[in-house]
Amino acid sequence: MAFETITVEVEDHVALITLNRPDAMNALNDQLLGELVTALEDAQANDKVRCIVLTGSEKAFAAGADIKMMSEKSFVEVFAGDLFGPEPDAIMRIRKPIIAAVSGYALGGGCELAMMCDFIIASETAKFGQPEINLGVIAGMGGTQRLTRLIGKSKAMDMNLTGRFMDAEEADRSGLVSRVVPVKKLREEAMAAASKIAEKSMISVMAVKESVNRSYEMPLREGLLFERRVFQSLFATEDQKEGMSAFMEKREAQFRDK
Ligand code: HXC
Repeated sequence: MAFETITVEVEDHVALITLNRPDAMNALNDQLLGELVTALEDAQANDKVRCIVLTGSEKAFAAGADIKMMSEKSFVEVFAGDLFGPEPDAIMRIRKPIIAAVSGYALGGGCELAMMCDFIIASETAKFGQPEINLGVIAGMGGTQRLTRLIGKSKAMDMNLTGRFMDAEEADRSGLVSRVVPVKKLREEAMAAASKIAEKSMISVMAVKESVNRSYEMPLREGLLFERRVFQSLFATEDQKEGMSAFMEKREAQFRDK
């Protein structure tokens, strides 16, 4: 399918999805979100794809939901149409890992989109923020929820109440991102991380994603039980036999997703 607001390349088992509305700092409108969901669902269905990287431009990952699209909407329109409801749900249903590679602005819905991914690699120029308060609204796709779990109440309150931006160094220190790399190396580092994941057994990879995400939904005792049962169930796979045999035979494992 031809997309107008994103580009998709599949390279060595990794789907690289690039947000591409340069005139609007990759602001998220209906078309972009629709195309993004389609591309992610395509990647999920494509057996050649084992990991996904989501990125923007050097200047902006995404500067938020499209303010021009939203400004004149009424309560009835956004409520009845469930503005920004279906897309996050669809993104969270993707079972393959998604790495956000963030350079420049990741604001409002852009920061929230990055947080919907499984982890964030940031360039030194990345700036995160939830500035919706300046528009007379609040975050609506996780800025008060996921951000609070990731960086704690004090910093999440600060960002949501003052609308200030957090730079890459602070985001790294606060646990919002997994690592910070030079801007020119961002894509390469994200693709390298994705390729590393692509070498693993997809069964274990999907089990990790599901188990870590369960930690947000259940009490610790239940989460630990869930994890242990998934760990034990992986002994039913050929990939567990292969992985452990390869270790003992001092060779690289050849996983077959079985
Ligand atoms: C629509 C946007 C936009 C946005 C930037 N643009 N952000 N258009 N929606 N969110 C457009 C500008 O209008 C402008 O186009 C062009 O991109 C370049 O932006 P400038 O402002 O000229 O660039 P600069 O001075 O470098 O400032 C960059 C910026 C600023 C700091 C990112 O644009 C900004 O503050 N943007 C808004 C950030 C924001 O409030 N995000 C939260 C949105 S609400 P034109 O054609 O005018 O020159 C949200 C809610 C999510 O995300 C809730 C989900 C349920």
